[in-house]
Amino acid sequence: MTVHDSAQKAFTEVVRDRRATPNFLSDPVPDADLEKILAAGLKAPSAYNLQPWRFVVVRDLANRMKLRVAALNQPKIEEAPVVLIACAGLAGWKEGDLEEVIALARANGYGDEVRYASWRRNVSSFFASEAGPIGGIAPDVAVWGNRHTMIAFTTMMWMAETLGYDTAPMEGFDEGKVKSAFSIPPEIRIVALLAIGRRKGPDKLFAGRFPMSRTVFAEKWGDAITLSSTS
Ligand SMILES: Cc1cc2nc3c(=O)[nH]c(=O)nc-3n(C[C@H](O)[C@H](O)[C@H](O)COP(=O)(O)O)c2cc1C
Repeated sequence: MTVHDSAQKAFTEVVRDRRATPNFLSDPVPDADLEKILAAGLKAPSAYNLQPWRFVVVRDLANRMKLRVAALNQPKIEEAPVVLIACAGLAGWKEGDLEEVIALARANGYGDEVRYASWRRNVSSFFASEAGPIGGIAPDVAVWGNRHTMIAFTTMMWMAETLGYDTAPMEGFDEGKVKSAFSIPPEIRIVALLAIGRRKGPDKLFAGRFPMSRTVFAEKWGDAITLSSTS
C-alpha cells in the first residue's frame, strides 16, 4: 500500500522511537501486515508451550465504537483501524490445550512420551496447587495468564512498530462490558487492548524513564549494577 509495506525498521530504532500513540488516522492496516503482526505474537514462548493467549481482532467501525464505550470512551479505539483485545484463557490447559500441545510437539518430532507424561504431571500439579499451596505459595492463575498473554501482546506491538505502524497499549477498559460486547466467555480474562495504525499529528514526547540504577539490581535486591559500558 505504501512505502511502509517493504520498509522494516531496525529493532533498536523501534525501541528508541516507539510511543503510546494518542490519536490515529483512519488509514487501514493491510491484511498482509496484520497477519505478520499476529503471527509474530503467536510465536511467543509460554510455559509448557500452553499458549493461553487469545486475541479478538476488532476492525469493524461499529465494533470499535462499541469497544470505545467499554473502554473509558478512549477516542483512539474508534480512530485506529485495528484494535486487538488480548485475552488469557486460564482453564484451557485442562479443556484440551495441553493434549493439543502434546500432539503438536509429537507431530513436530519434539520430545518423547516420557517428556509428555512429565508435562502432564507438572502442569496438573502446578494448577492443583491453586487449592493446596506448594512451598507456601499458590500460583496466581490471573498472573499466570497475564504473564504469557503480555509476551504475545508485546511481540505484536514490536512487530507492528517494526513494520512502520504506531501502536497504543491500553488497560483502561471495563472488563465486564468488553466481555459482554464481544461474547467473551466468563472464564476468560481480558488483559489489555492494543490499537494499531498510523498516528495522527506529531508523536507524543518521550516522558522519560527511571535510571537503570533505580530499577535494575545486581545479584540481590537493592544493589546497584555497574556495567563497564555505562558511566
Ligand atoms: C499495559 C499498558 C496499559 C496502558 N493503558 C493506557 C490507557 O488505557 N490509556 C492510555 O492513554 N495510555 C495507556 N498506556 C500508555 C502509557 O500511558 C504509556 O505507555 C506511558 O505513559 C509511557 O509513554 P510511552 O509509551 O509513549 O513511552 C498504557 C500502557 C501500557 C503498557
